[in-house]
Amino acid sequence: MKPTVFAVRALPGGVPAEVTARAELRGGEAKPAPRERIHAEGVEAGILVVTYLDRVDDALLDGLPNVRLVASYGVGVNHVDLPAMARRGVVVTNTPDVLTDATADLAMALLLAAARRVCEGDRLIRAGGWRDAGPEFLLGREVSGKTLGIVGFGRIGQAVARRASGFGMRILYASPRDAGYPGATRTDLDALLATSDFVSLHCPLTDATRDLLSRERISRMKPGAVLVNTSRGPVVDEEALADALADGRLFAAGLDVFRDEPRVPERLRRAENAVLTPHVGSGTVETRTAMGRMVWDEVLRRLTGRPPAFPVVI
Ligand code: DGY
Repeated sequence: MKPTVFAVRALPGGVPAEVTARAELRGGEAKPAPRERIHAEGVEAGILVVTYLDRVDDALLDGLPNVRLVASYGVGVNHVDLPAMARRGVVVTNTPDVLTDATADLAMALLLAAARRVCEGDRLIRAGGWRDAGPEFLLGREVSGKTLGIVGFGRIGQAVARRASGFGMRILYASPRDAGYPGATRTDLDALLATSDFVSLHCPLTDATRDLLSRERISRMKPGAVLVNTSRGPVVDEEALADALADGRLFAAGLDVFRDEPRVPERLRRAENAVLTPHVGSGTVETRTAMGRMVWDEVLRRLTGRPPAFPVVI
């Protein structure tokens, strides 16, 4: 009898034939399977395939007593209760590296769009509101030569630094570790916030980074700064951010992630100076397909008795 793999939803790129030849695949439809169905159909599964959108915790695993591998699509693992998985002896894998460039590209897109008021201009034209275009019309903020503060300086943070260097930006970063990155200066978070014209968030969501950009810290950002967030929504106090955007303390924000997705606070949706995208940092055909391949590769490794390529270490 073939081992059972349960996939909470379909992944881009489809399931490789090597996997279907070796395992019975259940689930894997476009819409995510509800918990009752996962429990009913996945009870024999030794491998569970999830995405960064699917919560994985004791309550889920209680109904899946045979699961030994959770192969997760995405680099962030804040949706997985890692201590619970460690206690249960369940290995968790993710899909790092492959989405670094796509996510860094989106961070730069949001930075540029927010600084240059791209979406405001677009909305204005569509509404038929472009009449007078005097010298002070729709002025943005210069990007070239400005200081970019990067919070969290792992793979994606460094990829943003490489792109920003091309714009002649001075790079500061705040990180628990010295990255030894030529041309970037490590500093503490408060100094970074006080001196950066642009701040881009690239830290994982953990207990230490939840509410990192608190009201207090937002109030200490350089006046007129632009905040970009492609990491996770709960890193930022959204109410405080909405206040800072409304009173002009911050010039603008570019946000791809929110605290309670897919809900976005009304005040942010109404803020002309907020550029909003729906959590699509890794959202290119190439990257999302490559992420899917990585997940199935982890499944195949397990099915053929090989160690995981990208285990998440707590
Ligand atoms: C991730 O991988 O964690 C992203 O948020 C989705 O690409």
